[in-house]
Amino acid sequence: MYEWWKKAVVYEIYCKSFCDSNGDGIGDLGGVISKLPVLKELGIDCIWFTPIYTSPQVDNGYDVADYQNIHKDYGTLEDLRRLVDLAHGMGIRIIMDMVLNHSSDEHFWFRESRKSKDNPYRNYYIWQPPKADGSEPNNWGNRFRDGNGSAWEFDPQTGEYYLHQYAVKMPDLNWEYEPLRQEIYRMLRWWLDFGIDGFRLDVFTRFKKPAGFPDTDKAPDLLLDRNGYILDSSMCTCVEGIHEFLHEMYTEVFGPSGCFTVGEGTGINAENALSYIAPERGEVSTVYHFTLASRKQPPFTTEKYRRIQQAWADLIPQGGWPVQYLSNHDSARQVSRYGDERYRVPSAKLLAALTLTAPGTPFLYQGEEIGMVDVHYDSIEDHNCCYTVGDYHAMVASGTAPQEALRILAPKSRDNARTPYQWDGSPHAGFTTGKPWLKVNPVYPQINLEADRASEDSIFAFYQKAIRLHREQPAILEGDLRFIWEDHPQLIAYLRRCEKQTVLVIANKSSEPAAAVLPEEIAQKKWTLLLENLPQACTLLEKTEWQPWECCIYEME
Ligand code: GLC
Ligand code: CA
Repeated sequence: MYEWWKKAVVYEIYCKSFCDSNGDGIGDLGGVISKLPVLKELGIDCIWFTPIYTSPQVDNGYDVADYQNIHKDYGTLEDLRRLVDLAHGMGIRIIMDMVLNHSSDEHFWFRESRKSKDNPYRNYYIWQPPKADGSEPNNWGNRFRDGNGSAWEFDPQTGEYYLHQYAVKMPDLNWEYEPLRQEIYRMLRWWLDFGIDGFRLDVFTRFKKPAGFPDTDKAPDLLLDRNGYILDSSMCTCVEGIHEFLHEMYTEVFGPSGCFTVGEGTGINAENALSYIAPERGEVSTVYHFTLASRKQPPFTTEKYRRIQQAWADLIPQGGWPVQYLSNHDSARQVSRYGDERYRVPSAKLLAALTLTAPGTPFLYQGEEIGMVDVHYDSIEDHNCCYTVGDYHAMVASGTAPQEALRILAPKSRDNARTPYQWDGSPHAGFTTGKPWLKVNPVYPQINLEADRASEDSIFAFYQKAIRLHREQPAILEGDLRFIWEDHPQLIAYLRRCEKQTVLVIANKSSEPAAAVLPEEIAQKKWTLLLENLPQACTLLEKTEWQPWECCIYEME
């Protein structure tokens, strides 16, 4: 009754930064192949590859120039063939990131589309004539503050503008046009025939645009919006009609193949999620939502954690299935953001315990299993992330001092997650023998896989144990979710209960000791410790205080 992906632990690989096998400073498929045994030891059972297709790399691969080929720096289709076969042989499934909201302007479709108004590919993209005064069709800004800031780019060849919600070189695809949709479905089937196990759908709530492309009336962000172009995500997110596209794609591809799909859930929350993920809707298996961990909101409090997790858990009896994660390739490092670098080891473990014992499918991001932390570059020149660079230039242009702009933007930069994986203490952290495409975090001599695994306090070893619990304890898969100490500002504590078992998780998500008295219902029972991140001086029933970042998982006898 539980599909494989409900029981899986997914591991996200950002190929460019994972492992370089040929010394060109860029991670590649050969590098991933060489590390499959470590991933197997960790215990994960599914890999999500961020885009590895042919791409000019304006947005590190989210700008796809050929959906059916591998980017030359990463290897070839044959390398991927070998990787998929090896992974499958180890019981590890592979899901591919599919970027279907936009392509690269170097894609064959766009090169054709821009040639003439009657080109067969013209309607693959969204073209609009200029306004009477020659200006853009509306006042939308693009998300990367690219070009002049507008979401429209004028193309002199045909005298029209094309829409790009992201970079100028990332034109939005026109989902209204059926031949494009059919072409997409053919391509997705080709990947399924190749043997991959599912898809992560990039910004899938943005495929539908509002009819007539109306102006936004949102007030401009004075620091960031330039030249009167206003970034308003809501204009193209979850627009009415999106469900028809998703349902059609499901009917054509996902349903018949039974593959796993996880949509990147911009605009989705526990209130509207079922309209995308309830099985009877026939859209996607689950969504990777931003209601708990979001780059744009302050780190969650214990109150918010309880509220959000409960809301998602309550969808399970209605057919919904949540995901769990705290960081990814678009965010800061989770220890730096939600933990405390001064308590790096226990806080990394505590966050792992939460992700791996809360209801739903955990998505781990490369490096969290060794407690990788945010990077502090001295200069914007070291940064690569389009948001960081775009926002930096916009802020400096509107008068912010450069160092101040960097100070404000760096903690949110996606580069924190994208610095090369720290394998060992050798130069460039063992990531490459060449010059890494993005500077390695200088903390690598202290923080790296080899050092971690050699330590008695190993974060990696804790992940192994927590992943094993995730797999073996029925309450973690099947159990409901009930929080205790519902007002506690530091402690996150919950029961996972199913017919076979009750598991209790207690976590002090703070850098101060936390006091609490066990509720009667807990104190009356006997508890066995399954996993802890700090040495235990007493049993649960004797406990009245939890150390900073202490976390314990118990089972009811
Ligand atoms: C998603 C990806 C992000 C990318 C964007 C545009 O948010 O996770 O990395 O920049 O889509 O494709
Ligand atoms: Ca390489």
